[in-house]
Amino acid sequence: MTGPLSAGDVIGDRYEIKQYIDEGGMQFVYAAIDKLANRVVALKTPKNNSATKRFRRSAVLAAKVNHPNVAKTLDYVREGDKRYLIEELIVGADLSKALLKKTSFLDPSLVAKVFHYMAKGLAAAHHAGVIHRDLKPTNVMMVGGYSISELKITDFGIAKMAEDELVEAAEGGEQTLSTSQTAVGALPYMAPEAIDTPKLVTRAADIWSLGAMIFHLLTGQQPFGTGLRAVHKIMEAKRPEPPPFVLRNPQFSPLAGELLEMAYACMQKDPVARPTADDLVAHCGALCYTVTQRAEGVVSRVEYDAWGFITSEGRHVFFHMDSVFGPPPKLAVGDQVLFSAYAGGGAPRAYPVLRIAAQ
Ligand SMILES: Nc1ncnc2c1ncn2[C@@H]1O[C@H](COP(=O)(O)OP(=O)(O)O)[C@@H](O)[C@H]1O
Ligand SMILES: [Mg+2]
Repeated sequence: MTGPLSAGDVIGDRYEIKQYIDEGGMQFVYAAIDKLANRVVALKTPKNNSATKRFRRSAVLAAKVNHPNVAKTLDYVREGDKRYLIEELIVGADLSKALLKKTSFLDPSLVAKVFHYMAKGLAAAHHAGVIHRDLKPTNVMMVGGYSISELKITDFGIAKMAEDELVEAAEGGEQTLSTSQTAVGALPYMAPEAIDTPKLVTRAADIWSLGAMIFHLLTGQQPFGTGLRAVHKIMEAKRPEPPPFVLRNPQFSPLAGELLEMAYACMQKDPVARPTADDLVAHCGALCYTVTQRAEGVVSRVEYDAWGFITSEGRHVFFHMDSVFGPPPKLAVGDQVLFSAYAGGGAPRAYPVLRIAAQ
């Protein structure tokens, strides 16, 4: 058990703590049993004073949004000086744990799927007048691993707290920053105006963050780097260059190119010039991307450096090197891969194929 609560504690006469899940810069997250509704929920409680002040605001904001791509806020409990936010429990992992543990980038179809879901969730929030302010991989929860059966944005409005931490961190220098999980996690995705004039942020700041996440997912690189050095690069807002592999392979470059252009459109310095979430939903809907199930396997045979077979759960799936998204070297026997399989003459065929780290 970590944090202030232990298994068996009951909050608001209704929520019984089951177990500690995780914590970020600003809050502890627990699984709790809602004894009234007889279901398991997520219970969040702030870590410090500045967080406490904003917790109710965040709950009120988030509760306005009803959408499958947004984690549902269920309740808010105040007991003495303690605050608790009750949210739909998502039995999965956040985007960085679900997708970026075994690989630093994703193939364009997976990126498009994440983009599409996130744009839809964000559009719903923006329609309700809610600005997230802290979009980053750990605030996106996913179910179904690489097959992504569900994607839900969480922690709307908590961002106000992140902002306080960031200001504190910036004033305290690199040391504070490196000890502040929140600031470190949020900074690479922050819009220039969110850094410069945080009180003036609009919906467009979320659009920038979404663009920065999409660039990260597609290239494996944060668009403006990490740490305090990112700040002046973000302020400059110069188009970040992708690594060469992203646009080199003609099997992937049309979609990768469109995604990059969308990310660049989102990361324009002038907030007014950025697309709206609705624009992004429409654009994602017009993209041609595959939504097939993903499987993991191991390369079991390679011929002429050009084609080979992937073995996965007893199946042999044909692949061509051109269907592999990523930088050299080429796949070799024993490499772990993530792929989708299509019916083919003889063996099924894999497309796309992504190298992942060995478990
Ligand atoms: N509704 C939820 N259901 C299940 N797990 C959650 C939920 N919300 C957050 N978490 C988990 O708790 C972790 C910590 O959350 P949080 O304190 O907001 O940290 P961060 O600042 O990294 O977002 C998240 O990374 C996520 O894995
Ligand atoms: Mg969070």
